[in-house]
Amino acid sequence: MLPLCRRSGSFSIGLALENDRQALVILRHHRGLPAAAHSFVQEIRERILVLACTTRKSVDDRLVFFHGREDSSFPPMPTTPGFANLTLVRHPLVQHKITLLRDRRTPTKIFKELVDEIAMLMAYEATAELSLDPVIVQTPLEQATGYQVSGKKLTLVPILRAGLGMVEGILRLVPSARVGHIGLYRDHDTLEPVDYYFKVPSDAAERDFFVLDPMLATGGSAVSAVSSLKRAGGVRIRFLCLVAAPEGVRRLGAAHPDVQVYCAALDRELNAQGYILPGLGDAGDRLFGTR
Ligand code: PRP
Ligand code: URA
Repeated sequence: MLPLCRRSGSFSIGLALENDRQALVILRHHRGLPAAAHSFVQEIRERILVLACTTRKSVDDRLVFFHGREDSSFPPMPTTPGFANLTLVRHPLVQHKITLLRDRRTPTKIFKELVDEIAMLMAYEATAELSLDPVIVQTPLEQATGYQVSGKKLTLVPILRAGLGMVEGILRLVPSARVGHIGLYRDHDTLEPVDYYFKVPSDAAERDFFVLDPMLATGGSAVSAVSSLKRAGGVRIRFLCLVAAPEGVRRLGAAHPDVQVYCAALDRELNAQGYILPGLGDAGDRLFGTR
């Protein structure tokens, strides 16, 4: 177990060695001050180990979360202080399907179905914060108060091409959603986005937007898409992807800190060609069979 240097009140802070490198450690008791510990973690940010102790004394009863760097043997936290703009959707069905998606043997037809299903499950999470208005509804027996999603129709904005694969699944969940389109491709040499198409509803300022793209790699495409949407008046924007690289999450967060990113997997890194590792390859090619 990791050595602790200092202890004060309900959580302790110290330096510890983990896999030959220094890391800051915060220990807080299960019944301690979660809010205080949380703000402390945010203050320190990078390279932190957080240990939550249960009241039982066994070492096995300690929960250890490592945030940020993926070279740890500990599983990452769902939302890490280093990526305040990121929500990891860790539902078991999503994780199961993402694994099938990664498999190089998965044929185009199944790949397409999986992207569709994962997008729907992710949209369920990403719509959790939508605001509601009360409405009166007449049941066969009496009047009841129910709720409806307030405001204008939700608008999905797939980034062409691969984002198209996420549209139908979300539309099954939110059939009244509108669909805009942003055409972008990544230049193979510079890895910078080249835009070729943009169309969203004209009353953008009044809508909630979900920008869709399975891959958030360097983040260039995502930053460009969100910038275009903001120029068109969009203000409430979420970004839904399936697999993200830390570089992309960081770049999108730096350019658009107001945009929450939802992803199913935060992968290790990018390779020299800008592909996510371990990733799932070229999402557009696998979706449309153009490899
Ligand atoms: C892929 C992917 C994203 C982009 C991500 O599209 O669908 O749009 O790359 O990379 P980035 O984060 O480094 O910008 P691609 O450019 O291959 O176009 P396609 O969908 O037409 O295949
Ligand atoms: N675009 C993809 O389709 N895959 C990657 O890994 C990176 C960018």
